[in-house]
Amino acid sequence: MRLLLIYGTTEGQTEKVARFVADQFAQRGHQAQIVNAIDEAAAAVDPREFDAVIVAASIHAGRYQSAVIHFVTKNLIAINGCSNAFLSVSLAAAGEDEDDRQGLEQCLAAFTQQTGWIPQRVHHVAGAFRYTSYDFLKRWAMKYIAYRKGGPADTSRDHELTDWADVAQFVSDFLRDAQSVPQTGG
Ligand SMILES: Cc1cc2nc3c(=O)[nH]c(=O)nc-3n(C[C@H](O)[C@H](O)[C@H](O)COP(=O)(O)O)c2cc1C
Repeated sequence: MRLLLIYGTTEGQTEKVARFVADQFAQRGHQAQIVNAIDEAAAAVDPREFDAVIVAASIHAGRYQSAVIHFVTKNLIAINGCSNAFLSVSLAAAGEDEDDRQGLEQCLAAFTQQTGWIPQRVHHVAGAFRYTSYDFLKRWAMKYIAYRKGGPADTSRDHELTDWADVAQFVSDFLRDAQSVPQTGG
């Protein structure tokens, strides 16, 4: 199976998740091409040349990266012709808080409205506090969020909340479904 993995990242955690997913595909004998939505390569890539498309993006102040929104909107028909999934990376996904879960659904609803895309599968992935890459204002804001939510307060280092076993399980589930459904696009 040929997989296209398009991602948006602001501090790098979604890129790490995307690379992990691509590695998981490769380990299972599949080809994965990974493209950052803001790179020039994203304008040239054609999802119709793939069997599956996974889009990954992270939430910042309730929104996903605009380059991802642009890519999905532009390539909607081709993406819908493949097995597809959306990986949403956030800190809200790290906990069980009901308000946070509702917030995630609202972000997703806005993304669907902006792009017109209803992914076959949506998976929420816990991201990271990347304190070492924040500027002063972001570090202060994220430390405040951590304080309110019981997150990590030590700003001298990064704190990764991503559950890698869960992401690997997502890959297994995605492959199982994709291989059992005949492709309709092309
Ligand atoms: C300025 C800022 C705003 C954020 N806003 C949200 C948010 O609204 N909801 C949420 O669940 N996580 C939020 N996060 C957490 C990010 O989604 C999380 O850190 C994720 O790992 C970022 O992925 P990236 O490094 O690929 O950009 C925010 C992070 C930052 C730095």
